[in-house]
Amino acid sequence: MKTLILGRTLTMDADPFHAAPETCATWREAGGVLVEDGIIAAVGEADALRAAHPDAAVEDMGDALLSAGFVDCHVHYPQTAIIGAWGKRLIDWLNGYTFPEELRFKDPVYARAQAETFLDLLALNGTTTACAYCTVHPESAEAFFAAAQARGLRMVAGKVMMDRNAPEGLCDTPERGAAETRALIEAWHGVDRLQVAITPRFAPTSSDAQLAAAGALAAEFPDCPVQTHLSEQPDEIAWVRELYPDDPDYLGVYERHGLTGPRAVMGHAIHLTPREHAHLAATKTPVAHCPTSNTFIGSGLCDVAGLKAAGIPVGLATDTGGGSSFSMLVTMRAAYEISQLRGAPMHPAQLMWLATAGSAGALGLGDRIGRLAPGMEADVIALDLRATPALKARAERSENPWHGLFGAMILGDERCVSAVWSGGRRLR
Ligand code: GUN
Ligand code: ZN
Repeated sequence: MKTLILGRTLTMDADPFHAAPETCATWREAGGVLVEDGIIAAVGEADALRAAHPDAAVEDMGDALLSAGFVDCHVHYPQTAIIGAWGKRLIDWLNGYTFPEELRFKDPVYARAQAETFLDLLALNGTTTACAYCTVHPESAEAFFAAAQARGLRMVAGKVMMDRNAPEGLCDTPERGAAETRALIEAWHGVDRLQVAITPRFAPTSSDAQLAAAGALAAEFPDCPVQTHLSEQPDEIAWVRELYPDDPDYLGVYERHGLTGPRAVMGHAIHLTPREHAHLAATKTPVAHCPTSNTFIGSGLCDVAGLKAAGIPVGLATDTGGGSSFSMLVTMRAAYEISQLRGAPMHPAQLMWLATAGSAGALGLGDRIGRLAPGMEADVIALDLRATPALKARAERSENPWHGLFGAMILGDERCVSAVWSGGRRLR
C-alpha cells in the first residue's frame, strides 16, 4: 500500500541550535512524501515522485505545509478536565485541583473516557506522539495504552509512582508501585508502537525507598524511559532540600538512585544550580521545556539556550493541565516569548526542531519519529498557514517560508492543522 502525500514540505536536516538555523532545513514548494506500509519511503519533488510511483494513491494537500507530526514530551492526560484552573502555584495547584481530579482515575471507565478525549485533542492539534503521565492507578495506564493501541499511535506513558505527601487514594508503596510498573512493562512495553515510562512523579511525593525501587527498575529495563519533574518552583526546591537534606541538590536525589542519564526526561528544570546543569550535560539527561505551564503556574523562564549550548537534549512539551494549551503551535509561541524575555529570541527553525525532532530525541525515539525522512515512521501533519483571517492577512507580508511558519506559531492553533497521519493512516 503506497500513498503519496503532496504539499509544501519542510524537512529538518540538522539541529538548528548547533548550526545556522536556515541551513538546517530543506523546503520544497511542490513536494511530496511517499508512504509505504506506514513508513516514509521518500521525500522529494512532487513531479519526480508521481512519475516514479504511478501506482501510489495521491492525497493532494495543495499549499499546506507537510511536516513531521508534533511530539509532546511531557503531558498529564488525567489533567485534561482541569486545564486552566485559576490562581494557584505549584504545590497548592496540585493539592487544590490536580489531586482531587486524579483520584477519579481509579475508575477504569472514567479513565478510558478521559484517555479518548485526550487522544482526540492530540489528533486535533497535530500531536502524533506524547509522553504522558497517568495517575497512580494502574487502571489509568491500562486505559491509556488500550486507547492508544486502538488508534495505532506511537505513545509513551507511565503509571505515576507516589507514596507520600498526597491523599491516601493517590499513594502506592515502594513495592506496589514497582510491581504495578513492572506488570505494565510486561503487558505493554514494545507492543505495537507503545512504550512504558518509569514514572516517579517527583521527589516530594516519593520516599527514598520508592525512588530506589524506581532506580532498580530503570537498571533492569534500560530500554524504558524514565520521567519525572525537576526544579520547577522555589518552594518545591526548598521542600526537596528539607526532605532530602543529605543530597547536594534536587537533581542529586535522582542521581543517587540512577534516575538520570539519556533515558530520563526531566520536566521543567528551570532553577538549576551550576552543579545540576553540569550533571545534566555530563550525563546527557534530556529536559522537557514546558513554557505555557511555566508561565501559567508562575514557575519561571527556563534557559533553553543555556541547556542546548551545554549539549543537553531538550524537547518541547505542553504539560497540560499545568500547561494552558494542547496546541504545540501555541507552545512554540510561549517558548518564543520566554526566549525574548531572556534576551535571545529563538528562530522558527529552533522552535520547530524542539517540537518535533528535539522531543523525539529526548524520548530516545529520534531514529523513528520527529523528522520527515526516509525510514521514519509516517507520522505526518499538514499545516494550513492561512487558516484564519489574521493569518491570511499576515501571509501577504511573509518574505520567506520561515516568516509564514512563524506566523502560524504566533497566531495559530488547532485551526492550522488540516490533516494528520499516524503510521501512514489518516487520523483526520
Ligand atoms: N510536579 C509534580 N507533579 C506535577 C504536575 O502534575 N504538574 C506540574 N506542572 N508539576 C508537577
Ligand atoms: Zn508535569
